[in-house]
Amino acid sequence: MKVKCVVFTLAAATSLLSMFQARADEGMWLPALISQRIADMQAKGFHLTAEDIYSVNQASLKDAVVLFGGGCTGELVSDEGLLFTNHHCGYGYIQRHSSVEHDYLKDGFWAMNRSEELPNPGLTVRFLERMEDVTPQVLEGYDAKMDEETRAELVRKNSEKIRETAVKDGKGLKASVEALYYGNQYFLFVFREYRDVRLVGAPPSSIGKFGGETDNWVWPRHTGDFSIFRIYAGKDNMPADYSEDNVPYRPKKSLKISLAGVKEGDFTFVYGCPGSTREYVHSAEVDYVANVSDPQKIALRTTRLDIMKKYMSQSQAVRIQYSSKFAGVANAWKKWQGEEKGIRKMNTVAEKREFEKGFEAWAKGKPCEGITDTLASLYARRNPVFRAYEYYNETVRAIEKLQMASGRPVSAKDYYRPIDEETFTAMMTAFDKGLDDCYKPEYFLKSRERFASMEEWKDAVFADSLEAKNLAEALNTHYSKVIAPQVNSLGRRINLANRTYMKAQMEYCKDKTFYPDANLTLRVAYGHVRGYSPADGVSYNPVSTLTGIIEKDNPDIFDYNIPQTLRDIYARGGYEAQPVCFLATNHTSGGNSGSPVLNADGNLIGINFDRVWEGTMSDYVFDPDFCRNISIDVRYILFTIKEIGHADYLLDEMTFVK
Ligand code: ARG
Ligand code: GLU
Repeated sequence: MKVKCVVFTLAAATSLLSMFQARADEGMWLPALISQRIADMQAKGFHLTAEDIYSVNQASLKDAVVLFGGGCTGELVSDEGLLFTNHHCGYGYIQRHSSVEHDYLKDGFWAMNRSEELPNPGLTVRFLERMEDVTPQVLEGYDAKMDEETRAELVRKNSEKIRETAVKDGKGLKASVEALYYGNQYFLFVFREYRDVRLVGAPPSSIGKFGGETDNWVWPRHTGDFSIFRIYAGKDNMPADYSEDNVPYRPKKSLKISLAGVKEGDFTFVYGCPGSTREYVHSAEVDYVANVSDPQKIALRTTRLDIMKKYMSQSQAVRIQYSSKFAGVANAWKKWQGEEKGIRKMNTVAEKREFEKGFEAWAKGKPCEGITDTLASLYARRNPVFRAYEYYNETVRAIEKLQMASGRPVSAKDYYRPIDEETFTAMMTAFDKGLDDCYKPEYFLKSRERFASMEEWKDAVFADSLEAKNLAEALNTHYSKVIAPQVNSLGRRINLANRTYMKAQMEYCKDKTFYPDANLTLRVAYGHVRGYSPADGVSYNPVSTLTGIIEKDNPDIFDYNIPQTLRDIYARGGYEAQPVCFLATNHTSGGNSGSPVLNADGNLIGINFDRVWEGTMSDYVFDPDFCRNISIDVRYILFTIKEIGHADYLLDEMTFVK
């Protein structure tokens, strides 16, 4: 056993080892550099080559993957521009087409021919044309004595030039220059953006959102989380504004759909755009996340969710008004619970501290010596003010009255004053108790004296719009003029130190291949279909079936009330083993929603839509025993199109393989 990157004692060896070697199936890799991983992928069961994943010379899998709507991923499944993504990614568009007469969220939507497909102004998809290392061009004119602000300005200017050149003369070309490894490397991404994307199909929410917030981040899972769109182009196949004359886009590559199914141990990979991870940061940051930030945000959101729940359970109308807001608040709330627990269970703070000790022993006499101490003291300064910053986000910004008073739009249709009033009292009390006075504006401190209780203060704010306006303005100003600038300036210094630390870690751990932290750029993660054991005596299968849906079915519970058609189909018999969702060990994150999940031959077996909550610490530390991504089995999509949507004609344009 030889680990180059550390001087360690035997006792510490086992725990340290896990820190330094990428854990089995950990990693989200840049497609253009996948040749570095291809041997490992093939050893684990992959049948194709690096060129099949990414190539600028021939059609490759990258040409079948898109960044969908700026925050999700989608994939091409026909040569006529047909695209799959998640239901929760298409949600806003489905909602916009819905009315009292046509409730497509509730009932689903199925275009029965091309002319029934619905345009979505503002919705775009981006295909990656190419990506390349542009570090020398981005850093042209840089010298090591530059301060961080000057460097940032230089990077901005150079990147602008690179982007301009990259999109010249191209139809619908967009370019971005992204920092990798905290700015040790820069990559140019050139995309072609299509802007006529039409809604083709969506299951009813009772399928597409089956399990609702109850099952969110949870296994066993039975959510049919998919929706279908079609990309349109001008006659030259290039991006065009919406027009009746546009024709279905002909992709360079579309995915074949595997009907072979999945089983425990099968090789699988995910091709998509994870948003953000922090795998290489200092122990002080992880300590803050697990022991301060997550617990505080969870507590504040629990209070808000309880308030919403109380009123939502009393009235169907309020439930409809607040269901989307509730989902938004509950999603991260649940994720943070797994993250906090997972970081603690993995002992990550202590492990990182050990690592930092070993690192500093190695760094003695090198230019990076002391960088972990620098980071520790920067975090010690940043954390208190960052905590206040997060408090503002979770309390002040949770009060719709203050949002309205700040001129931010709040939909009157979806506003229920009793919820907002109770939220005001609870969140302002928490704000007052939770933060030192130095983080509060003068106006807040003075007003606090004017009212006998928070209740009285609330009545004044809700009765008098000037009172609301003054308070909102004072809080907003303090946030943006006092708190945020400190957070940003310390953030820049931390980023600078992280750049040094990152580079040094890569030298220290020479034998480890570091994948860059996620930043919504295209990545490949690979692993295996695999169940897990979340607790003593509990063991999960990696696949779920229609039988599980019927077991959960309950007309009295909103989240579990399935369409009658589905009950009837099941009762007919023969669909007991119809696959619905499956688990795998692919390292994914938020943004991977809608990503294609592929088998060893590069054929589509599912669409990624979630992780299990016990594994959400994978944004900081990956545990092969607990980190699982959740996908909808592509065969459940086909089943739903046929049996629920009766849109069989869509299947005619897809290609199926055994
Ligand atoms: N947890 C998944 C994600 O982070 C799904 C969220 C949407 N679904 C829901 N039930 N809220 O995006
Ligand atoms: N549902 C998430 C998304 O929107 C994916 C789940 C995750 O965070 O892994 O991207």
